[in-house]
Amino acid sequence: MEIRNTAVLLAAGRGKRMNMEGYKQYLEIQGAPLFTYSLRTLTKSSVITDIVITVNQGDEDHMLDLVRQYGLSEKVRAVVPGGAERFLSVYEGLKAISWPCDFVYIHDSARAFLDGETLLRLDRTARERGSAVAGVPSKDTVRITDEEGRAISTPARKNVWIVQTPQVFRLEDLLPAHSMAVQSLEKLEAEGIQITDDAMVAETMLGIKAQMVMASYNNIKVTTQEDLPLAEAILKGQSFR
Ligand code: CTP
Ligand code: MG
Repeated sequence: MEIRNTAVLLAAGRGKRMNMEGYKQYLEIQGAPLFTYSLRTLTKSSVITDIVITVNQGDEDHMLDLVRQYGLSEKVRAVVPGGAERFLSVYEGLKAISWPCDFVYIHDSARAFLDGETLLRLDRTARERGSAVAGVPSKDTVRITDEEGRAISTPARKNVWIVQTPQVFRLEDLLPAHSMAVQSLEKLEAEGIQITDDAMVAETMLGIKAQMVMASYNNIKVTTQEDLPLAEAILKGQSFR
């Protein structure tokens, strides 16, 4: 049977670090809202069969209008409100999947420059290993320190990955993992554990050791104003539209 892969495209943040009016997912870059770039790549890719988008409460119709306006509605099955934290938005996206789905591809819409080759590599690895997380080896040396900033260790650079999205897991793993994480929120907080990505939910709740997959140094997250010139430069080097 054909494998069905749903992308959960996250666009329910508020982009506070952009320091601007409005939310960054709608920020126009070279004539199109930021979220449309990765939505187009996901739509064009043979790897992805269905898409759910999470948005801020009340943004559903606005998002649907934009999706139609940019001709990107082909695979979009649902637009749902996210939650207060990224992982709560992921949970809402996962719960909205009411169609057949083997793997979920959790993706930050702020990572506009996702490419189709990365999706193919993630697909291959996810089928073989059951999970696949996009990332790149660190170009910088990373040093682990104590609370005072004194060096404890310096891991080998080839083993240090900068983690990106998409992060790919079986829906049957990631949905229960998120439901468990939501239930044990207070306990996690008491232990000082902060959930920063999907792989961490899968590892903390189910002990899944996610498989890293080489993505691209262009797969940056548009986070602050300084990222915009870089974003424009990356776009000029690619044909997204
Ligand atoms: N996101 C989400 N729901 C949240 C928080 C974030 O869907 N409650 C999404 C954002 O829309 C973004 C992605 O997760 O595409 C990565 O988050 P980040 O870069 O931190 O974006 P924001 O949370 O919007 O920005 P900031 O942290 O600066 O407010
Ligand atoms: Mg954020």
